[in-house]
Amino acid sequence: LKFVCLSNDGIDQHMVWLIGLKNIFGRQLPNMPKEYIVRLVMDRNHKSVMVIRRNQVVGGITYRPYVSQKFGEIAFCAITADEQVKGYGTRLMNHLKQHARDVDGLTHFLTYADNNAVGYFIKQGFTKEIHLEKDRWQGYIKDYDGGILMECKIDPKLPYVD
Ligand code: ACO
Repeated sequence: LKFVCLSNDGIDQHMVWLIGLKNIFGRQLPNMPKEYIVRLVMDRNHKSVMVIRRNQVVGGITYRPYVSQKFGEIAFCAITADEQVKGYGTRLMNHLKQHARDVDGLTHFLTYADNNAVGYFIKQGFTKEIHLEKDRWQGYIKDYDGGILMECKIDPKLPYVD
């Protein structure tokens, strides 16, 4: 089992994994238009943290780091159907937090959570109260009807993964 964080860099193996992740998002997020999913997963401004087992993608999180604003927007998050509620979603989020803090220099995450995923995000330390000053994110993330805006502060020191 391994966790990787990458973007569309033209490397064959990375493309294969990104396509696998795009397919999981397509199945797990039925309300999201497929073209929108492909566009963001393949967009060079977005990165994806993925769980890989026996060279197969089990799930992942696609996000856009706004490095100048020190926050990231989580676009999509999903684990393949038969592997949910086994702890992969939590481990994925911990890898994302560590990478975003140590590599991208981010302090916060924002996401529009689906109603049925609010419980998962709360368990990952997200809140419905937005503490991040509005001028740091306004105009960067678009308003979106189908979800609840949630925030997570990344701890500056905590070791999220060993
Ligand atoms: N609602 C409430 N609690 C949840 C949910 C949920 N939908 N999913 C998981 N949990 C809880 C688990 O019970 C667990 O609690 P525990 O620590 O007390 O045992 C905890 O959250 C973590 O569970 P994991 O096993 O780590 O979560 P999992 O691997 O299943 O991943 C995920 C969670 C990503 C939400 C997965 O269930 C999934 O892919 N769901 C369908 C797609 C989806 O809803 N994605 C999020 C949409 S919003 C967005 O993408 C921005």
